[in-house]
Amino acid sequence: MNAAEPVFKPLGLLAELTHRCPLGCPYCSNPLALDRGELDTATWSRVFREAAGLGVLQVHLSGGEPAARRDLAEITAAAHQAGLYTNLITSAVGLTPKRFAALADAGLDHVQISIQDHQPNSADHIAGYAGAYERKRMLAAEVVRHKMPLTINAVMHRANIDHVADMVELAIELGASRVEIAHVQYYGWALKNRAALMPTRAQVERAVVAVETLRARHQGRIVIDAVVPDYYARFPKPCVGGWGRRSLNVTPAGKVLPCHAAESIPGLEFWSVRGRSLAEIWENSPAFRAFRGTDWMQEPCASCPRRFEDFGGCRCQAFALTGDARATDPVCHLSPKHAIVATLAEERREEPYVYRRLERERADADTAL
Ligand code: SF4
Ligand code: FES
Repeated sequence: MNAAEPVFKPLGLLAELTHRCPLGCPYCSNPLALDRGELDTATWSRVFREAAGLGVLQVHLSGGEPAARRDLAEITAAAHQAGLYTNLITSAVGLTPKRFAALADAGLDHVQISIQDHQPNSADHIAGYAGAYERKRMLAAEVVRHKMPLTINAVMHRANIDHVADMVELAIELGASRVEIAHVQYYGWALKNRAALMPTRAQVERAVVAVETLRARHQGRIVIDAVVPDYYARFPKPCVGGWGRRSLNVTPAGKVLPCHAAESIPGLEFWSVRGRSLAEIWENSPAFRAFRGTDWMQEPCASCPRRFEDFGGCRCQAFALTGDARATDPVCHLSPKHAIVATLAEERREEPYVYRRLERERADADTAL
């Protein structure tokens, strides 16, 4: 890190409470090798206190499916008591009205529910779980009944991108105040399914126009957050706000990662909250120091004026596409490897999804409901 660069303080913590999940989305951001051992409630409570001490304001309770943890209400209460704004990111499967009421009592502040499509058959097919769509509708109604803010997460790909307007209409109907339209990021499980998920350029262009129309039509009713998908952008996004700058991610087993996909980069050394404080990990962990700041950059990033805005893009994507995690994210049109992106964007095949689910994992999640 350059001596002139500021001391970084995290603002957000992604708490992956479990990798268990009844759904099997083919673009799941969980790693291919899922964690088995999970931190207990007491350790999560300590992590939240330490996070608040570091300056973290907001915790995202995520997974897998966080509701697969029987102690989700206790975990939520611990985060709330630590002074953190608590956001639950859920598939909705496993959250009955009674369980949700317990979360509200525990101090839950905000809920994000993922939707896979606007119609049950297609949505359940993408999720790999019959009945998921109905459960999402039911949970959304509960969230609204509790007067809690609701965001709908919609991950777009070839099978649903033409339905973006219908998905926004569904979010409005469900009572959401915000809809987050994200495009699949191709690492982890999505890399396995890339040819089956990749939209066409024409689809992406139609979706960009549709989002602008929807924003104008629904201004004041719902906030629509959407960005152009990576493979069709000129510049990369500042992934996770820059590596080791603003956020950290704790895995179910306690490893602390600079981003949720960091384990896809070989050779990084991750430290665990089981043996160290969060502050020590944030400051000194080799994984956090690997790409913090700008000293690690190669050309063209190293002398590019945009390097303090996008931080060279996504390290995980750079590794997935070039085999070098220090390379300029090939999404950038200045990257010498940019041609890879155009080639991959044209690679599409009609083939069945490789769902991320393992049968045993599904049984574990169902018994925890
Ligand atoms: Fe960003 Fe690097 Fe591209 Fe410059 S060369 S725009 S820093 S990714
Ligand atoms: Fe890891 Fe972008 S997902 S840096």
